[in-house]
Amino acid sequence: MVFHRPSTIPHPTIWHRFTARGIKLRVQDMTAEQVEPAVQLLVKYFMQDEPPCKYIGIQKYPSAQAHLEKLWRDTIKDKLSIVCVEDKPGSPVIGVNVLKVVSKGDKEEPFQTDDKIWAKLFGAVDCVSRGVDIFAQYGVEDYLTAFGLVVDPAWRGCGIGKEILLARYVRVTLFH
Ligand SMILES: CC(C)(COP(=O)(O)OP(=O)(O)OC[C@H]1O[C@@H](n2cnc3c(N)ncnc32)[C@H](O)[C@@H]1OP(=O)(O)O)[C@@H](O)C(=O)NCCC(=O)NCCS
Repeated sequence: MVFHRPSTIPHPTIWHRFTARGIKLRVQDMTAEQVEPAVQLLVKYFMQDEPPCKYIGIQKYPSAQAHLEKLWRDTIKDKLSIVCVEDKPGSPVIGVNVLKVVSKGDKEEPFQTDDKIWAKLFGAVDCVSRGVDIFAQYGVEDYLTAFGLVVDPAWRGCGIGKEILLARYVRVTLFH
């Protein structure tokens, strides 16, 4: 069965609060107003710094960039993605994790693209994820996967990436 966010869980929910550099931060569901800043953070810094993107030099290839941006935008529509912000209203997005639940009943579509750079980049992700049957391996009906974790460089190295991953754990427990 295709996974949908349970209607009993309000959107946006704040999943986790913590302090970094003496500032109170929180990890919450990405709201409609946060979609654009979140995507821009990914476009600017994930494409620049994430090791495979950096290695391939995705920023030199607009068509591959467009594929990746579309993947993020399509996935964000599931309303499972999260952001990290200062724990006060109207704060800018400083961290993003684009999340998706993959279910046993999902329609299997072979990955295909004419874009050579996108084929290299997402083809590797596709190949790795098909390399093991996660449902059989862990005896689960669905699992959480991610298509991008990024923290604003101005905030790196103070545990925000780790706290975003911890918040994912809290959510997964509540969603079941
Ligand atoms: C990876 C990233 C999200 C970490 O964010 P962060 O808030 O600085 O992370 P934390 O402070 O929680 O943890 C930093 C730790 O991650 C390690 N780390 C950061 N990038 C790493 C990488 N590419 N490979 C291995 N370790 C890495 C750091 O060395 C540090 O380790 P330490 O605590 O042992 O010193 C951030 O560097 C980033 O946005 N990078 C670009 C996008 C990316 O590579 N995303 C990850 C793959 S989806």
